[in-house]
Amino acid sequence: EHAIAWKLSQSSQVQQIFCTPGNGGTATQAKCQNIPISVTDFPALKQLIDDQNISLVVVGPEVPLALGITDYLQQPNLKIFGPTKAGAILEASKSWAKDFMSEANIPTAKSATFTKAETAKEYITEIPIVIKADGLAAGKGVTVATTIEMAHNAIDDIFQGDFDKKNQSVVIEEFLTGQEVSVLALTDGLTIRPLLPAQDHKQVGEGDTGPNTGGMGAYAPTPIITPELMASIQQQVLEPTLTNLQKRGIDYRGVIYAGLMISPTGEPKVLEFNCRFGDPETQPILSLLETPLEELLLACCEQRLAELPPIKWRPGVAVCVVLASGGYPGDYEKGKIISGIEKAEANGATIFHAGTKFQAENLITDGGRVLGVTAVGSNFTEAKTKAYAAVNSVQFEGMYYRRDIGSRVLMN
Ligand SMILES: Nc1ncnc2c1ncn2[C@@H]1O[C@H](COP(=O)(O)OP(=O)(O)O)[C@@H](O)[C@H]1O
Ligand SMILES: [Mg+2]
Repeated sequence: EHAIAWKLSQSSQVQQIFCTPGNGGTATQAKCQNIPISVTDFPALKQLIDDQNISLVVVGPEVPLALGITDYLQQPNLKIFGPTKAGAILEASKSWAKDFMSEANIPTAKSATFTKAETAKEYITEIPIVIKADGLAAGKGVTVATTIEMAHNAIDDIFQGDFDKKNQSVVIEEFLTGQEVSVLALTDGLTIRPLLPAQDHKQVGEGDTGPNTGGMGAYAPTPIITPELMASIQQQVLEPTLTNLQKRGIDYRGVIYAGLMISPTGEPKVLEFNCRFGDPETQPILSLLETPLEELLLACCEQRLAELPPIKWRPGVAVCVVLASGGYPGDYEKGKIISGIEKAEANGATIFHAGTKFQAENLITDGGRVLGVTAVGSNFTEAKTKAYAAVNSVQFEGMYYRRDIGSRVLMN
């Protein structure tokens, strides 16, 4: 959300930005003002829109989209970037997305959906296997099981744990190998256009080891996606997704984020869809965007995406290194004072905030992932060097980050 607000604030067409509830980054961003309203308090958001004469709403996270914020806020002269509840189910239900993909012949892992733990367990005969909670789980719903016992425990967790109770299904999926890539695309419901392809590092440990996180770093554009491969992703994934949404009568205006596994032989398969900009990939992607962001978002809302000239990108690459609280993705402490941001930015990086807030005059940590230190360079080595130079200026107690963001590219 900070990256979105940062990009919007650069445009002369954008007068003022209200961030609800915002964070320590949007608190000091030019043109931005934090308003302490929860993203799920729809009546209060509607009131704010009326009081402030807001013309464009950009919905950042998935939860309000899945709850139908776009449907709720609809009113004449208000543009809302983000799908309706009917479209957001693409992310909010993995079993729905699997049916959707199979109907549209979109390449994806083989899978089966179960509503009972016993039948789910009987289905598992080989490992590794992937166990997915059906509903939104804030990145904590998927287990790549390497033993049968682990798979069974994951199934028990889904049926007995505290996932979305209305939605007690599990998707069991074939384990795919290859490289993961995120292709975020903009759609107005009629046309779909990809942004630069990105890759993130999901695992907490260097060398891509340890438990998955929301993302420990990302970069764009990834050289894994050649122009030919992007053309086949457009043809095999993005176009059929849009066509099938239309076929189902879903008017989707927002981001379709395809999480892809690219097989060793270069075949893309969809792991999942998200219905919004994804973190941390959005940080390097928007760092390279030259077309004013609000032009793109408004074109999506007004169904004029086909009329826009090609999206303009700054040449080069962007690398984002996430600074996390020690202990994340397990237990961690909040409230640590953060210092050195100005110095880091003076080194040529942009610092996007995630879990931060102001307490009195101090910027303090307020989440597992705290900051995304992002730098642009003419090549990977330069961008990475700039990002890590900036990282060295930032401090907070327990700060943890991976030192190898982007190393996959450099190794290749
Ligand atoms: N079929 C699969 N094969 C291998 N790894 C997978 C598969 N599905 C998911 N994963 C791994 O699990 C991660 C999370 O899965 P994903 O479907 O993206 O769910 P979410 O982002 O909602 O947690 C993926 O980024 C990937 O690393
Ligand atoms: Mg994912």
